[in-house]
Amino acid sequence: MNSFPAWYFDESQMAGINFEDIAQVEAFDCKQTSSTPQKEQALVKRLGISLGHTVIDLGAGTGTFAIQAALEGAFVHAIDISQSMLAYAQQKARKMGASTIKFHRAGFLTYEHNDNLGDFVITKAALHILPDFWKMVALMRMASMLKPNGILYLRDAIFSFPISEHKTFIDEWIEHSSKPEGEGWTDKDYHMHVREEHSTFAWIIEGMLTRAGFEITQANYLTPTAAEYICIKIA
Ligand SMILES: C[S@@+](CC[C@H](N)C(=O)[O-])C[C@H]1O[C@@H](n2cnc3c(N)ncnc32)[C@H](O)[C@@H]1O
Repeated sequence: MNSFPAWYFDESQMAGINFEDIAQVEAFDCKQTSSTPQKEQALVKRLGISLGHTVIDLGAGTGTFAIQAALEGAFVHAIDISQSMLAYAQQKARKMGASTIKFHRAGFLTYEHNDNLGDFVITKAALHILPDFWKMVALMRMASMLKPNGILYLRDAIFSFPISEHKTFIDEWIEHSSKPEGEGWTDKDYHMHVREEHSTFAWIIEGMLTRAGFEITQANYLTPTAAEYICIKIA
């Protein structure tokens, strides 16, 4: 067991939405339209995940991606800090017949990978939970879990708009993306995201990825407030 110094980040104190709350967990799949089984299956195929691969999914949530990767034949480590999320994901995996998933209650900064090095590390819509210093530590830890030339896929709320126009872009994002209560993420959820969570600029994330030992092979600015990266761990 690793012991961490007194100054280490406390991942149990989650910023923003409380994903230990069962009501949040049960509502999650309806709200998280970026993570449907169809979209995750397409991502699994696009990344080339297949039989025999080891996949590490950090901040796995309700397990939609992990399940699709397992159904494709990969062995998946699904890691989440929330016990409620993990219990829900485990139940979903059982129903879907996805048997090659090992669930771990741990976080970006505490998960200890004690298996084959990963062919893939995946982290979607979760890294923003950490302040930038700790994102950097998390990315270095991800690099250490991967084989040489292994792939990191990162997608998150990441800002590529001009800094001087941040107010306009954030307002537009919330106006266009928020849904009425019960139909998706509400304007209050977005307000809390911007106010309390730690989404940051693309140029900061890209500097971190490079310094953590990755080569960015694809940077896609999906919208001014969302980006995805495919990176190779430099051997
Ligand atoms: C918005 S959900 C994203 C879930 C999934 N990856 C997706 O694409 O829909 C964020 C997840 O990160 C988890 N989480 C929060 N803090 C974490 C941490 N420090 N380490 C790992 N997971 C964390 C939450 O419990 C939640 O399940």
